[in-house]
Amino acid sequence: MEFLDLKTQQNRIRKPLEKRFSAILDHGGYIMGPEVYELEEKLADYCGVKHAISCSSGTDALLIPLMAWGIGPGDAVFTTPFTYVATAEVIALLGATPVFVDVYESTFNIDCEKLELTIKNTISEGKLRPKAIIPVDLFGVPARYRLIEDIAKKYDLKVVEDAAQSFGASIRNQKVGTFGDVAATSFYPAKPLGCYGDGGAIFTNNDDLAEILKAIRIHGTTSDKYNSEIIGLNGRLDSMQAAVLLEKLTIFDEELDLRQKINNQYRSRLNNCQYIPNDYISSHALFSIFLDSEEERNKTIDKLKENSIPVVVYYKYPIHLMQGFAYLDYQEGDFAISEKLSKNILSLPMHPYLSSEDIKLVLKILEK
Ligand SMILES: Cc1ncc(COP(=O)(O)O)c(C=O)c1O
Repeated sequence: MEFLDLKTQQNRIRKPLEKRFSAILDHGGYIMGPEVYELEEKLADYCGVKHAISCSSGTDALLIPLMAWGIGPGDAVFTTPFTYVATAEVIALLGATPVFVDVYESTFNIDCEKLELTIKNTISEGKLRPKAIIPVDLFGVPARYRLIEDIAKKYDLKVVEDAAQSFGASIRNQKVGTFGDVAATSFYPAKPLGCYGDGGAIFTNNDDLAEILKAIRIHGTTSDKYNSEIIGLNGRLDSMQAAVLLEKLTIFDEELDLRQKINNQYRSRLNNCQYIPNDYISSHALFSIFLDSEEERNKTIDKLKENSIPVVVYYKYPIHLMQGFAYLDYQEGDFAISEKLSKNILSLPMHPYLSSEDIKLVLKILEK
């Protein structure tokens, strides 16, 4: 059994993909070739958003909008400590300060009451200027954007949706990619829509912002590629990766349905799963369960591994307790729910091609 099976998927798209690779070898436009623009159009269409701007990774997709707004030293950007490190890293890279907010125990996403409280505290302390919020759609479940957007409006903050894991998800039929000022996704191979290397995309309905994002992606250049107008970076997607994504996009909705079915099968026998609110559709990037304690979690991992069932812990360390972020001076106990989750969570195999028999086996071992 595989935790993630990219081989079966590859077999389905291999022929048309080879045709696309061959076309790229012929035309030679390896970076920002026609496949990249074709992909951007299809991604924008898929999400129902005006601009989809491809880039080199999910990390750069988060970084570029923060750069566009000039976020830097003295600025506070609010996010959660229970996410992949890239979410907080981009804030720190710009010299701004990640200000953490704990998550809900049910959805594992940013707690909106705590968010508003933290914003108020930051304002009254007067040391940092609140600038932006990066909510994370953990494991594929969107955060509470209606509430988050209201809070952002009230305190004049930007919102970057970290949709690295949630491409394809939606709230009340509104697709991820359309929430906040900007959304950022990742096409890392393990993501619901992944390429065969690094890749990402930024989504926005704001025309002026889209132009700035595009410029930053290519060293801050617009019409003259040797004349930088603003500080940018090498954040381009290459044509081979775009070709992979174009072919994977043709089977993406079908794969989302398959993930949904697997999710349903797991949930029919498990009640210790991430909560998905009504009207929310997850992309089911990962299927995570929580146990009563760290000891129980570790015993469960051993039991599954003894039966050759691959499992992974996302995330073993909340960011505020990572050594790289020690300079922020957070302590153990500051974010009780994130800390608890990091001790009692584990992710089970999840991919569109997981068989019913495999799921039954996982469930049987879990119930032992
Ligand atoms: C929540 C989250 N944010 C950001 C990223 C960064 O994406 P990438 O690995 O494409 O840079 C990831 C990828 O794992 C992620 O899971």
